[in-house]
Amino acid sequence: MDSSNTEKGDCSAEAYRGPKLPNVPEDLVVPGVMDLECDERLWVPQAKDVWFRPLCFNVSHGYFVNILRVRKSGILSRHRHTGPVHATVLRGRWHYLEHPWWAEEGGYAFEPPGDIHTLEVPDGVNEMYTLFHVTGAYIYVDVDGVPLGVEDVFSKLEAARKHYENIGLGADFADQFVR
Ligand SMILES: [Fe+2]
Repeated sequence: MDSSNTEKGDCSAEAYRGPKLPNVPEDLVVPGVMDLECDERLWVPQAKDVWFRPLCFNVSHGYFVNILRVRKSGILSRHRHTGPVHATVLRGRWHYLEHPWWAEEGGYAFEPPGDIHTLEVPDGVNEMYTLFHVTGAYIYVDVDGVPLGVEDVFSKLEAARKHYENIGLGADFADQFVR
């Protein structure tokens, strides 16, 4: 046997020809993620001047991946995370009142579960786009941490289904992002 096979695996240019493993979901492939001027219908309204574009609703692991679009300055929300959050800023900048760091265009940030913070888009930033991978829930809180509301993969999926139904694409349009 070629020693490279045992050390690095089989690198021959041949597709796997064995059986599929049982219960493996289909791949989810979303084109044009970096196209921020994409079809306007994809953007699900979330609040005044705030939208999200779903990329993945993972209902079996309790997370979602989306692009958040904000077209206003000021405080977006104060919230607590029950799970980890990965954020990649595609355009604009923002920060949390509780932390010294800034989420800058082209940058990445990890938000640990349990962190409670208040998101502000600064004056002068007309548009902010951030790709968020959010596990668990956002718990919206007041300044003392008292819960005011909850958002998770299920509420996101529900909002997307409602939006796509309203604009004529059909609620099922959202289901393509479900895994
Ligand atoms: Fe956060």
